[in-house]
Amino acid sequence: MSKTTTRYVLGIETSCDETAVALYDGNAGLLAHALYSQVDLHGPYGGVVPELASRDHIRKLLPLLEEVIATAGVKLDALNGVAYTRGPGLIGALMVGAMMGASLGYALGIPTIGVHHMEAHLMAALLEPDPPSYPFVALLVSGGHTQLIHVKDFGKYVLLGESVDDAVGEAFDKTAKLLGLPYPGGPSLAQAAERGDPKRFVFPRPMINRPGLDFSFSGLKTAALNCVNSETLDAQTISDIACAFEMAVVDTLRIKCERALAQTGLKRLVVVGGVSANQRLRAELKTALDARQATVYFPRLAFCTDNAAMVAYTGFLRLQRGEQDALGVEVLPRWSIDTL
Ligand code: KG4
Ligand code: ZN
Repeated sequence: MSKTTTRYVLGIETSCDETAVALYDGNAGLLAHALYSQVDLHGPYGGVVPELASRDHIRKLLPLLEEVIATAGVKLDALNGVAYTRGPGLIGALMVGAMMGASLGYALGIPTIGVHHMEAHLMAALLEPDPPSYPFVALLVSGGHTQLIHVKDFGKYVLLGESVDDAVGEAFDKTAKLLGLPYPGGPSLAQAAERGDPKRFVFPRPMINRPGLDFSFSGLKTAALNCVNSETLDAQTISDIACAFEMAVVDTLRIKCERALAQTGLKRLVVVGGVSANQRLRAELKTALDARQATVYFPRLAFCTDNAAMVAYTGFLRLQRGEQDALGVEVLPRWSIDTL
């Protein structure tokens, strides 16, 4: 196979606290993916420590690369391209993946491509069987983003609305911290909420009475704080507050998604990013969209949160279109998807 054909694309993800490598094959699909989570490293600090994250990416990337190459059974010199996350994310962490991607590309004489982390999250849903066709509405919900996007085609994104303050994942993490739940907060709050009484506390649904598709989540954190200050925090009360918070978030997201579908006249909704792993969100959106003869699409659980499969696939799509990096390494810690 000539080096100009795009078939085997390696993906590298190091934007935050997961180190991940994957190999995508244009003929056979995803061949292998491996991930190392830094959760135990950052846990004692209650959040990601950027410098520790960068150093750990350096330690883990090469072993993960070797693991993926061995699992896929594809030799390094058979690769046709390397994709890495260019941003948004933590600058030092991004630099590690970008440097490794650029060095590999240079050494192997193959093109490299820096991909947008949120576009990669979006493409995770298209790795599943029966992927949605374009156009569709996308809800991007992660630790740093809450956005509704009209996806006209691959690479054609119109921002419909976004959070005016905290991202929804960030609100989960901060509220979990208030409740004394372990890091990472999103999954532990969701777990606590399962045992919660849905009627004991009722939190507001922010901004649903205003027109438009923007979100606000900082008020919910304050509602949770008021409960924490006025109640005795036994295990049941923690679960009840977690439940009230999660229900308010999920309802708000569902209402805005339905509004975005009505506004665009579209019948397909794609939900991606770490918070798309939330079971209450998945169930409530499924019920709501079934009722309006619309369809909701999610990535498999392992590809909701950060991973390199989504980066390899996005890189494959962009390299296939003839795009590639210029020589040199550039990362973009802040980078809006609607500028692509
Ligand atoms: O996409 P992601 O892995 O990283 C970013 O790009 O930010 O998203 C991480 C976020 C965190 O805020 C985490 O608490 C949240 O996703 N998250 C969840 C769940 N799993 C992860 N939030 C609610 N419920 C979950 N099951
Ligand atoms: Zn992410």
